[in-house]
Amino acid sequence: MKSKKLFERAKKVIPGGVNSPVRAFNSVGGTPVYIVSGSGPRIKTAEGTELVDYCGSWGPLILGHARKEVVEAIQETASKGTSFGINTPREVEMAELLCDLVPGLDMIRLVNSGTEAVMTALRIARGFTNRRKIIKFEGCYHGHTDSMLVSAGSGLLTGGISSSAGVSKETAAETFVVPYNDLNAVLEVFKRHGNDIAAVIIEPVAGNMGLVQTVPGFLQGLRDITARNKSLLIFDEVITGFRLAPTTYGRVIGITPDLTCLGKIIGGGMPIGAIGGKADIMRILAPLGSVYQAGTLSGNPVAVAAGLATLKLLKKEKPYPTIAQHGKKLAEGITQAARKAGIKMFCPCIGGMFTPFFCDGPVTSLADAKKADTKTYAAFFHGMLDNGIYLPPSQFEVGFISATHTDSDIIDFIEKAGSVLIEIKPKK
Ligand SMILES: Cc1ncc(COP(=O)(O)O)c(C=O)c1O
Repeated sequence: MKSKKLFERAKKVIPGGVNSPVRAFNSVGGTPVYIVSGSGPRIKTAEGTELVDYCGSWGPLILGHARKEVVEAIQETASKGTSFGINTPREVEMAELLCDLVPGLDMIRLVNSGTEAVMTALRIARGFTNRRKIIKFEGCYHGHTDSMLVSAGSGLLTGGISSSAGVSKETAAETFVVPYNDLNAVLEVFKRHGNDIAAVIIEPVAGNMGLVQTVPGFLQGLRDITARNKSLLIFDEVITGFRLAPTTYGRVIGITPDLTCLGKIIGGGMPIGAIGGKADIMRILAPLGSVYQAGTLSGNPVAVAAGLATLKLLKKEKPYPTIAQHGKKLAEGITQAARKAGIKMFCPCIGGMFTPFFCDGPVTSLADAKKADTKTYAAFFHGMLDNGIYLPPSQFEVGFISATHTDSDIIDFIEKAGSVLIEIKPKK
């Protein structure tokens, strides 16, 4: 009831009642929940109901909610001042730590969100190459900067069309949108427009059409094509950075992009983003170079303190094998439960990220992902919610397992999923 009332009040003063569209539950229906607190893997709603959280603030909370050391770092820093707009020692420590943890990143600039990181990376790419066009992949989300709110146009070579009102035709046309995992499509665009492609940007593991991984050789293919054509390769690691190891996914697979965008985990739940890359490219940023970028709150001491505490804990505790093991167990368990219930499911999982796609696999592109039965996902989401488990409120997002989910949380998830799947199975 409280959530319902809060949502009614919110709708009067906030467009759609939410500060980010997916929170409105439009994809799954029903009333959005309101959260008052979190601890470890659990969150508490305004009604006082405890839920096991598999959304984790969309990725940042790899250490779970309100991890003691992170909260203490925030409190201690905030008590000494929340913002100065002047340099602080911890910014230097943060940049050094990131460059140390991600060989290949020579320099880092901190910003306030993943969107801002991507926006800056694209401007750097255009400034550095003196070219205009960008290639992105269908189903990848890179924040809400204009040139990324674009869908495929009528043909591969014609440039994109805007996917949001307010993005001009001209801006959209400068982004080519090609299918994920389709190297031939990328080659085709390069063949025709190679001299004008500033950058190729990709989520090296896609987390915004549900979880979709690249096929062997695809990312290396992108590295080769971009290098050959003197375009920049940008890995958007806003989700994947520090998710699979205490470094980037690029580093894990041994591919060094020219620029890397970071966010989420590196802020430990506080607003942050970062762009990093090779020194010769990063030196183009003001005040050294000709590409302008700035921010009143960039390198904010409280966000940096939370991020530093998180990164240090990840480096020390290395929770990754356990998270991966839990992810594998959950994905296998839920797939088996779906088979038992006679429901089609393909559930990929990597680094504690997972998506139960309600369709047959494999899912290697947005076209594949769209085959999923979103009605069944919505029913599953609500069935799990009624059983005290919070999943992302959309089929086309990823669930996140944190270091605080225990073996018994995972077993409980699988058991509950088993009953929910039987309950929601369409009756013949
Ligand atoms: C891969 C990726 N890039 C960029 C962004 C944008 O980050 P933010 O929401 O912090 O602006 C997101 C957000 O989910 C993302 O998943």
